[in-house]
Amino acid sequence: MYVPSGQPTLGSVIGVNGLTLVENPEYASTMSSVQPTAGDPGPTPFRLAHISDPHLTSLHRVHWRELLNKRLLGYASWRLRRRAVHRPEILNALQRALVECRPDHIAVTGDLTHLGTPAECLEARQWLEQLGPPAYITVIPGNHDRYAPSEWSETLALWLPYMQGDDPPGPEYGRFPFPTLRKRGPVALVGLSTARPTAPFLATGKVGYAQLEQLERLLDSTAAEDLFRIVLMHHSPLAAGVSRRRRLDDTARLVSVLKQHGTELVLHGHGHRPVTGALQTDTSVIPVFGVPSASSSDPSPEKRAGYNIYEIAASNMGWTLRVLEQRWDPARACFVPHAQHSLLIPAPRASPHNERHAAAGAG
Ligand SMILES: [Fe+2]
Ligand SMILES: [Fe+2]
Repeated sequence: MYVPSGQPTLGSVIGVNGLTLVENPEYASTMSSVQPTAGDPGPTPFRLAHISDPHLTSLHRVHWRELLNKRLLGYASWRLRRRAVHRPEILNALQRALVECRPDHIAVTGDLTHLGTPAECLEARQWLEQLGPPAYITVIPGNHDRYAPSEWSETLALWLPYMQGDDPPGPEYGRFPFPTLRKRGPVALVGLSTARPTAPFLATGKVGYAQLEQLERLLDSTAAEDLFRIVLMHHSPLAAGVSRRRRLDDTARLVSVLKQHGTELVLHGHGHRPVTGALQTDTSVIPVFGVPSASSSDPSPEKRAGYNIYEIAASNMGWTLRVLEQRWDPARACFVPHAQHSLLIPAPRASPHNERHAAAGAG
């Protein structure tokens, strides 16, 4: 378990179960598209699956003209290392695992491709269609998906049905739909894009003022609706433990917005390893979870493929959150339970949520 140094951990700040190892039951090995469960989850927890950085595409047929920029370096990296690390058989096993556990929704926090070429974006779109329908899967892009400047209509626009919010963006958004908002059961999924082309050897990201302004509005409106707000982003909002080469350039501004307007959970990818951390606010903490690459065959246990399941339920104090970490087991060639965390997350103080939940005895 990787915890960035200098950041408060959930266990130390909230004083709840930090880490509990659980049994390792086997998954069934059926292979079909994941389908959403019907209707309101009611008193049962809302279950969100979080996967990231599948880097699922192949560059075997990339045209040399597409490599006349930063992509040449990325292509060399893929030839030398990445194509051996990111394995389709692991993604197939992941899909089987998701079919078996049937989450209520799936979040994909970026880096579906290696270089973000049109052919890769098309391949990723086809993979998403295999995984499930657009209303069931929320996607945000990663830095590899915007590796170099490219034609929007030929690349990320192919993922729009999986990226855009419930309300189609108006003309003022242009072709860029972020931040996005999707409401599913008790949950508000707020998607940010931190992906933008960078100079060679840099994998940094940025949210930008335009998204931050909209983010404030979305966090306020969804708090007023008593929704459990989850911010999805590719880069980590935690400053500690992230190198300058891979950091989010406007971390401080983003964190200020998250603390001021509140959010119940932040999910990210990019690091290709598990992260359990928190953003400390004046009165509470905001849990932050990062997941490993969904397709990694890296021999290091910390960088081995994994995904998380978040079980979210209302309680008389606010919300309960159970996090189930799943890891790739190369010996058994399947994903197995690895660890779990149980958290109590208070509802925003300014909201009538607490009183209503206490009166109803929700939970
Ligand atoms: Fe990645
Ligand atoms: Fe990344």
